[in-house]
Amino acid sequence: MVKKPNLDAAYALQSPSENRLLYAEWAESYDHDFAKNMGYALPIRVADAFSENLNGFQNGRILDVGAGTGLVGQRLNFHGYSDIDGLDISLEMLEVAKSKGCYQHMIIGNLYSRLQIQDNIYSYIISAGTFTHGHVGPSALDELLRISKPGALFCISINSAHFVSAGFEKKFQELDEKITQLDLIPVQIYFGGEHTDGQGIVAIFRTR
Ligand SMILES: C[S@@+](CC[C@H](N)C(=O)[O-])C[C@H]1O[C@@H](n2cnc3c(N)ncnc32)[C@H](O)[C@@H]1O
Repeated sequence: MVKKPNLDAAYALQSPSENRLLYAEWAESYDHDFAKNMGYALPIRVADAFSENLNGFQNGRILDVGAGTGLVGQRLNFHGYSDIDGLDISLEMLEVAKSKGCYQHMIIGNLYSRLQIQDNIYSYIISAGTFTHGHVGPSALDELLRISKPGALFCISINSAHFVSAGFEKKFQELDEKITQLDLIPVQIYFGGEHTDGQGIVAIFRTR
């Protein structure tokens, strides 16, 4: 049965196929009923952190991972970036993103499987709201490293409680020979402070 799309249902998902089903239901109303009504700040804060931590943008492709309806892409456009692709497991979410014109290419893919993307393609990996309860865990980082160029910049949000429960700290230790300059910056997921599970981390690092 398709669960009623809301934050509680999203956090309780148990598989990529459950994600696919829930986001197919949620796509049309996500921007208004979730992002606007709940004061969802994360896409703006992650895109702003990306822009602030570049130390000089050099040409290269950006991949927005778990791009959804394109909220990160829209904010990156606002900052002047346009060479952006969006990847998501949900066709319906990407169709909403397509209507906004913020991505050059949209890729349907499951972060727990091999992506239909060649090695060493992306100079920048960005993501908001995807590494969280019920969605994507640390093992997906291996596939993202495969498709990234040496020296690529990652800027990805991770729900703080998920960071602990899903084992991101151990994963970052295991990746020590592949990544460098890891910085973990606290971030509020929502504009208002009423959400109990509203803490996130923006993980910024470069591939070696
Ligand atoms: C909370 S939404 C975030 C969307 C967008 N980044 C934002 O901040 O509004 C999480 C997104 O992750 C996608 N997702 C969940 N599991 C996935 C997987 N295994 N592979 C790729 N995308 C996935 C969902 O389809 C959804 O669009």
